[in-house]
Amino acid sequence: MIITTCGNSQKIALRVARQLQALYSPLTISSFPDGDIYLKYNVEVKDKVVVIIHSFQPHPNQSLYQVIFAAETAQDLGAKKVILVAPYLAFMRQDKRFHLGEAISSRIMAKHLNSCLDKIITIDPHLHRYKSLKDIFTIPATCLTANELVAQYIQKHFRQAVIIGPDAESYQWAKAVAKTIGAEATVLQKKRYSSRKVEVEMVYHLEMKGKDVAIVDDIISTGHTIAEAAKKAKKLGAKTVTAIGIHGLFVEDAIVKLKKAGVDRIVTTDCIEHNTNKIDVADLLVKELKK
Ligand code: R5P
Repeated sequence: MIITTCGNSQKIALRVARQLQALYSPLTISSFPDGDIYLKYNVEVKDKVVVIIHSFQPHPNQSLYQVIFAAETAQDLGAKKVILVAPYLAFMRQDKRFHLGEAISSRIMAKHLNSCLDKIITIDPHLHRYKSLKDIFTIPATCLTANELVAQYIQKHFRQAVIIGPDAESYQWAKAVAKTIGAEATVLQKKRYSSRKVEVEMVYHLEMKGKDVAIVDDIISTGHTIAEAAKKAKKLGAKTVTAIGIHGLFVEDAIVKLKKAGVDRIVTTDCIEHNTNKIDVADLLVKELKK
């Protein structure tokens, strides 16, 4: 087995390779003077299982074509199998045509990956309108979850946490985490006016006064969703607010926004490399790749 990466997930790829005692060899990727992609394997991949570990953040669009080039090249060089491990899989939130004429990005992404991979493994993809990855992938697609790891983190660092899911879409994560540790949980009702404007309401009231609140979401992107939830929790008397994201994208000024909203701590998994990473998902991947 050869573990490689297009660049985004180097730390995790190296850790996984070490634990599997597999050869780690990152791809050489650069551009020709005119901007065309240049990609090269630095080891013999013929008859080998090639595992590309690459999160689709930062640079989701570039990541997609890099992965396609990497997978097709491996196939072309005679690899036995090509597996993509995408700890964060982008494009999943565009799972329908919200406005006339829009691309359904998740379907297009999956169509391209179906044609060049033997298998895809990902962690907590944003499955909202899709019931499972099977709705868009024709290749074997494994969906792992970091819920257990998030629950363990909360158990270790909180005396008695109250969990908030900031919207209906993310409640599946908050609810699962709360159930594992026997904590109280509630979901907020979110109204999204645009990519950068949301409002939240607490429909099912839960006592926040003096409590340590953990807001659990699958994705923290612009930070608006969690910022609004944090303001609500603080207004209701929460002692501390911790934002926990499986995938911390932190686009634009998300961190500043979260701090301004009263978030005391930001915690993410290392599905996307970031200085808020506190929860390590390498073991999840190792266990799956050993199967
Ligand atoms: C969507 O509903 C997701 O679960 C997240 O709540 C959302 O993607 C977060 O986006 P943002 O940080 O831009 O509000």
